[in-house]
Formats: sequence, C-alpha cells, structure tokens
Amino acid sequence: MKLKNRVALVTGGSRGIGRAIVLALAQEGAWVGINYVADDEGINFKQAKEVAERVKNMGSKSLLLQADVSCEKEVQKMVTQIVKEYGKIEILVNNAGIVRDVTLKKMRKKDWDEVIGVNLTGVFNCVRTAINYMREAGYGRIISISSIIGQTGNIGQSNYAASKAGIMGFVKSIAREVARKGITVNAIAPGFIQTEMLKKIPEEIKSRILQQIPMGRFGTPDDIGQLVVFLVSDEASYITGQTIHINGGLYM
Ligand SMILES: NC(=O)c1ccc[n+]([C@@H]2O[C@H](COP(=O)([O-])OP(=O)(O)OC[C@H]3O[C@@H](n4cnc5c(N)ncnc54)[C@H](O)[C@@H]3O)[C@@H](O)[C@H]2O)c1
Repeated sequence: MKLKNRVALVTGGSRGIGRAIVLALAQEGAWVGINYVADDEGINFKQAKEVAERVKNMGSKSLLLQADVSCEKEVQKMVTQIVKEYGKIEILVNNAGIVRDVTLKKMRKKDWDEVIGVNLTGVFNCVRTAINYMREAGYGRIISISSIIGQTGNIGQSNYAASKAGIMGFVKSIAREVARKGITVNAIAPGFIQTEMLKKIPEEIKSRILQQIPMGRFGTPDDIGQLVVFLVSDEASYITGQTIHINGGLYM
C-alpha cells in the first residue's frame, strides 16, 4: 500500500472522476475526506454515502464533508473538520468543477461568475486553507483537475476554458512558493472522460470527438484515479508545477 494512513481530501468526491479518485486513494490505504455539495434532492449526499461505504469495504476510513468549494467559510470549516478528525491533511485533490456552456454572445455574467467561482476560486479557497497545515508538517501533495479545454479552448466554453487555464498558472506559482517546504503542486488535464459531464455533450458531437482521439476511446474515471495515486506517491516526489495531460493522444 503506497499511501497507508495518509490523509486526503477530495472535492466533489461523490461521483464521476472524484469518486474514482477517492476509491483509488483508499485502495492504497489513504483515509479520505469525501467532499460533496448540498443539493435540493440530497442526491450528492446519497452518492457520497455510497462511496464512503465502498471505502469501508476496502478496509480504509472516510469522512463525509459537506461544503460548497466556492464559499471560503465552508471550505475553512471542512478543512478544520478533517484535521480535527484525522489530525492532519497531507493530500488535497481539487476535483469539483461545473460547466455552464454557452457562446460569449449569449453568456450571462452569472454563467461566468459561477464557473470561475467553483472551478478557480474553489481551488484557491481549498489550497489557501489546506496548505497552512502542510507547511507546518513540512509535507504535502496538491493536485488540481484542470482540462484539455484549458489548453485548446472550445466554442461555448470560454468561462470553463478560462477557469481551467487559470488552474495551470495558479499551480505553477504555488509550486514555486512551496517547493522547499516538502509540498508538490501539480495539475491534471484530462481529455474526454466518461462521466455525467460527458453525457451533456450531444451524441453527434461526441462521435466526432471520438474520431479525433488517436486511442479511439474516451477515458475512464479510473484512468484519472490511477494518475492521482502516482502523483501523490513518494515515487513522484520530484514532480512539481506540472500539468499532466491524459487524453488518449487527443492533445499532444
Ligand atoms: N468528464 C470529463 O470529460 C472531464 C474532462 C476534463 C476535466 N474534467 C474535470 O474533472 C472534474 C470532475 O468532473 P466529472 O467529469 O467527474 O463531472 P461531474 O459533474 O460528474 O462531477 C463534478 C463534481 O463536482 C461537484 N461539485 C460541483 N459544484 C461543487 C461545489 N460548488 N462544491 C463542491 N463540489 C461541487 C459535483 O457535485 C460533482 O460531484 C471537474 O473539475 C471537471 O471540470 C472532466
């Protein structure tokens, strides 16, 4: 087990890529804080509970943590809670993200603010809070989930692309700031991964994208989970400030 008794926090851990990251970390022995955001139907809580159940069956521990990552106060409460329960926070995975796809011509200020608020300010809130504990401990691993779109741009995704490109710049700066404190800071830029987010893309466009992927398949959430495990492991201790692309060759 590569991560025995390490303490991790995964934002948006109730489904999709976040869920796969939680399970991949737990498989390696990490104790995981599973963050979820409240919704009217309580679906996220229900899904987060199912993930926690899986973690338990693997023989590891988890903690359900409700917080909207775009709200600094809620993030502070969440980080305090995990440190209170497990005594430390060593791994932070910023996975929570949303889309509000629309061309600039029709984009409302709200569409811009919400995407930047969750995808970029959310990362800022979590890193700024968690990194203090990592500094004190002289150890930390921070991974933020960016996107291929942050590199290439996309029609109807200027808000999303800006947020994901923002992560890449943020990561490089923080990596420099804490490089001598035992903390590595990296981003992962997935291509197209089979999750709820991909389901929102019309079939016709999806089949066009698929034709452009050299490997001829979409990625799986577990492809991302395994990359996270590597980047937070001791084997990756000399990797910092990087954005690792994982996209079946779609962007090289
Ligand atoms: N699926 C893809 O093809 C793809 C490609 C590149 C990058 N990504 C990125 O990967 C990450 C995970 O996406 P996914 O595909 O699993 O999508 P998803 O919609 O299934 O998951 C997103 C998660 O974020 C959570 N979330 C949303 N707003 C939140 C908030 N304010 N606070 C806390 N949690 C919140 C959701 O509840 C959900 O659990 C996102 O950052 C996304 O941008 C996805």
